[in-house]
Amino acid sequence: MSSHEIQPRMRTVASTQSEMTEIILPNDTNMLGNLLGGRLMHFIDLTGAMAAYRHARTHVVTAAMDHIDFIQPVRLGDLVTLKSSVNRAFTSSMEIGVKVWSENTRTGAVSHVASAYMVYVAVDEHGRVQKVPQLKPETPDEMRRYEDALRRREHRERENARRKEAKRTIAALDGEQEKL
Ligand SMILES: CC(C)(COP(=O)(O)OP(=O)(O)OC[C@H]1O[C@@H](n2cnc3c(N)ncnc32)[C@H](O)[C@@H]1OP(=O)(O)O)[C@@H](O)C(=O)NCCC(=O)NCCS
Repeated sequence: MSSHEIQPRMRTVASTQSEMTEIILPNDTNMLGNLLGGRLMHFIDLTGAMAAYRHARTHVVTAAMDHIDFIQPVRLGDLVTLKSSVNRAFTSSMEIGVKVWSENTRTGAVSHVASAYMVYVAVDEHGRVQKVPQLKPETPDEMRRYEDALRRREHRERENARRKEAKRTIAALDGEQEKL
C-alpha cells in the first residue's frame, strides 16, 4: 500500500512483529572477539524500522534511540536474533521495542543480550510528517507495553523540555558575558 492509499484506523501488534537473524563475522567484532556496540545498534535500528514500516506503510525516520541495555556480550560466530513490534502509536510517531538474543551455534545455548526502545516518525516522500494508524493492544503483555510507552513518551518530553531550557539559559549567559 502506498502512503496515498487509504490506511486502516487501527493495526494489531501482531501485524507489526518483525525478526532478523545475523551471523557475527570478524568484521563485526572488537579485539576481544565481541560484537561491536555500534554494529548491534545498527541491527537494532534496522529491526525497529521493519516494525515501524509494517505499521505506518510509508517512509519512516528514526527520531530517537531512547534506551538500550547491553546485558551481555555477543561472541564471534554466534547467531544474533532481533525481534521488534510496535508498543504504541501516537499521532505520527511510534515507539518500537526491540529485543535481542544470541545463540551459540555449537551448544545451542540462547541468551537475552540486549533490549531497546526506539521512536520512528512517519514521513512522506518529501519528509513531511504523516499520521499513522492507532495500535490495538490485544494481550495483557501488549497492554502493559502500551501503557508503559505513554509513560516513556512523557518522560522523553520532559527531558527534551529540560534540555531546551538549559540551552536557552547557556545562550542567555553567553550573551551577558559578551556585553561585559
Ligand atoms: C523526526 C522528525 C521528522 C520530526 O520532525 P519535527 O519537525 O520535529 O516534527 P514535529 O514536531 O511535528 O513532531 C512529529 C512527531 O515526532 C516526534 N518527535 C520529534 N522529535 C522527537 C524526538 N527527539 N524523540 C521522540 N519523538 C520525537 C514528536 O513527538 C511528534 O510525535 P507525534 O506526532 O506522534 O505527537 C525530524 O526531527 C527529523 O527529520 N529528524 C531527522 C531524522 C533522521 O534523519 N533520522 C536518522 C535517519 S533515518
